[in-house]
Amino acid sequence: MSYPYQIASLEQYHADYKKSVDDPEGFWGSIAENFEWRKKHDKVLEWNFTEPKVEWFKGAKLNITENCIDRHLKTMADKPAIIWEPNNPEERVRIVTYARLHKRVCQVAQMLVNNGVKKGDRVCIYMGMVPELAYAILGCARIGAIHSVIFGGFSAQSIADRLYDAQAEFIITCDGAYRGAKDIPLKSVIDDALIGNRTVKKVFVYTRTRIPVSMLKGRDLWWEDEMEYAETQVEKDGVVSFPAVEMDAEDPLFILYTSGSTGKPKGVVHSSAGYMVWTNYTFVNVFQYQPGQVHFCTADIGWITGHSYIVYGPLSAGGTSLMFEGVPTYPDAGRFWDIVDRHKVNILYTAPTAIRSLMGFGLDPLKGKDLSSLKILGTVGEPINEEAWHWYDEHIGKKKCPIVDTWWQTENGGVLISNLAGITPSKPSWATLPMPGVQPILVDENGKEVTEKDEHGMLKGNLCIKAPWPSILRTTYGDHERCRINYFATYPNLYFTGDGALKDADGNYRITGRVDDVLNVSGHRIGTAEVENAINMHAGVVESAVVGYPHDIKGQGIYAYVIYGHMHGDAEHTKKDILQTVTRVIGAIAKPDKIQFVTGLPKTRSGKIMRRILRKIAEGEMTNLGDTSALLDPTVVEEIKNGKL
Ligand code: WT7
Repeated sequence: MSYPYQIASLEQYHADYKKSVDDPEGFWGSIAENFEWRKKHDKVLEWNFTEPKVEWFKGAKLNITENCIDRHLKTMADKPAIIWEPNNPEERVRIVTYARLHKRVCQVAQMLVNNGVKKGDRVCIYMGMVPELAYAILGCARIGAIHSVIFGGFSAQSIADRLYDAQAEFIITCDGAYRGAKDIPLKSVIDDALIGNRTVKKVFVYTRTRIPVSMLKGRDLWWEDEMEYAETQVEKDGVVSFPAVEMDAEDPLFILYTSGSTGKPKGVVHSSAGYMVWTNYTFVNVFQYQPGQVHFCTADIGWITGHSYIVYGPLSAGGTSLMFEGVPTYPDAGRFWDIVDRHKVNILYTAPTAIRSLMGFGLDPLKGKDLSSLKILGTVGEPINEEAWHWYDEHIGKKKCPIVDTWWQTENGGVLISNLAGITPSKPSWATLPMPGVQPILVDENGKEVTEKDEHGMLKGNLCIKAPWPSILRTTYGDHERCRINYFATYPNLYFTGDGALKDADGNYRITGRVDDVLNVSGHRIGTAEVENAINMHAGVVESAVVGYPHDIKGQGIYAYVIYGHMHGDAEHTKKDILQTVTRVIGAIAKPDKIQFVTGLPKTRSGKIMRRILRKIAEGEMTNLGDTSALLDPTVVEEIKNGKL
């Protein structure tokens, strides 16, 4: 494959950027020529941000799996599409060629159809990081079923909520998953999630750990049996085929739930054509991918990063995507470097939190590891501090690999602001320049564009985007109004990201973090309201307030102030009980790092919690709490300060 739209110089970046803004339809219309369409579009773009309504490549017909698989078969059937590295390094590596991927995806598609799955049906996927997860996703896409992948760390209750919200009728899961030293019983979590569920008809269970699982007659099916039967249907005389279902450009491809400032996670909906074009375009340009390179994105496919840069981006570009089942510290903190060495990884894309945690182990884990295959490094998910950036640059990239700091969100589908590796300049802790097609603007609270520079010559404001790029979210599943209010109503005619940012005189952006009540813990997005709701479900809790505080490794930690009634046992036991409740309601990823029991919360006369004060105290700021004159009872602040953990 070649990529005629790959930006090759700084000048070309500026020229392409200008074209994309002056003539978005011309620009993206010509990019679209690099894909396989059953039918070409009638119109490149129609949009307004008031409803909101965004339609890209309207009238086009396609199937994303033909772009990710079939079109590569002629020239790359024997080339690796996925290299799978198991949790246990002693276990056999699996190399999935494009031909094999094609066969497996056809089988999954057939298996789903055999069991009544139709275009538009929602299929929930709750699996570990095994190649079958990629097959499941692409199998859904092949028949136009809408996949909703749920990260393996979410609890039964979270799954139940998502199943209900999406009215999902099918689930694909594993018996269990290996993650580091742990075996996670996925099917048993699904069983709990299905208690009282009325919509799910079939559950496909792939065998990974072979722990005992309950299999309900008529509902639960072994993946292996179904796939074996499907194989006899899709393969005739050595020729494999399962015709992909034709999709409209705007047909939903998938739902991915993400947290916001309100209690309930939202089902972000991505389209078929726009998402395909954007993940491919950004993959090829941000990472400057060259055919044959091994791309290792360390994210879990349960998050958007894995969807876009393990599955759809690399595969649509005919790339080789390395998929890792385990964790960076198992069996030891040299695991990433071992993987880079053994698989001759060229591009490593990871999270600042992983870098910071590995930094903590010093340089010993790097000993004897040949990292010379690395060409490009990337980060995603949270702001990267300069110390981590330099460590990554010096010890991993040996000062020879450009680092791309990619800023984007679940709602964006793919990277919006980033340097292009080796093409546009990097600046430590800055995401730098917008991708072609992305028009950022910084506004103040009233939505007015910020034009006044601060003493360092920087503009500072809330980050919005002025016009749609191809993979902007189309709606939040089942509730379009929620989508409008969340993203398009804060400032008229702008998409509001929820992030604050700085802009320097060269047009570079530095993302400073969320300006809403959303936390970013180890690169995972968690709403404070969601955590509060979970804590408040614990018997004995009267009220709670959750804020973030700076955490050396996680970026942000979760600090919970809790008003408690009668305690069953001592405070330490009670804290553990609360953590257990949060684990049950959301999942272990949402467990507060600190719980402080208080007798009151700082409230205004109208009863609003003054989180600003709580945030300052959690950060360790004890004297400069700002204006506290609106407080109903200022003495609670003293009490909270005295009890600070
Ligand atoms: C939030 C989105 C995009 C995939 C992973 C997270 C923060 C993301 C960066 C970055 C600073 C970043 C933002 C954003 N964020 N990348 N390079 N620099 N902050 O996806 O869960 O949707 O979270 O992550 O605050 O709003 P997500």
